[in-house]
Amino acid sequence: MPHEKRLSAIYPGSFDPLTNGHLDLVERSVRLVDHLVIAILRNDQKQALFSVAERIDMVREVVHGIPNVEVAAFDGLLVDFAAHCGASVIIRGIRAVSDYEYELQMALMNRRLRPEIETVFLMASEAHSFISSRLVKEVIRLGGNIADLVPPSIEGRLKRRLLEENGEE
Ligand code: PNS
Repeated sequence: MPHEKRLSAIYPGSFDPLTNGHLDLVERSVRLVDHLVIAILRNDQKQALFSVAERIDMVREVVHGIPNVEVAAFDGLLVDFAAHCGASVIIRGIRAVSDYEYELQMALMNRRLRPEIETVFLMASEAHSFISSRLVKEVIRLGGNIADLVPPSIEGRLKRRLLEENGEE
């Protein structure tokens, strides 16, 4: 029996918060690789709604039933963290043509930094192609229904966070 090489991938992002689109990508990625690290960026310039520690908790809560998935935070270069994790693949989702340019730039830069790490793009399912963390936050802030856009535990956390923000808790 030849030695089988284990394929590890990293799925990086801000996940502020994780959406059903992200979850769909996680579920599809684990069918392609042996081990998946969901990597949450620390020190982002963007003003986040949830702290990194909260996001780690939230993502762990949602993916705990999915085998071979790990959740971690990283700072510095993504490719360095991928190498540190032993991941040879970076997974990114593409929803629409508008995602493509930024994703291509990142993929080419990452390839220049570490050519041995390959970026693999998965197309978002039609049902999720309009979902983004930014729009989910905007819709819930304006009183819209986000039940089909995020996992139930995340919806609960979002509702509580908005009540806190409004000084109602
Ligand atoms: O969910 P996002 O905000 O689209 O994720 C962006 C992310 C985290 C993938 C990207 O900002 C990133 O990889 N940051 C780490 C810093 C880095 O490696 N920069 C150079 C790569 S182009």
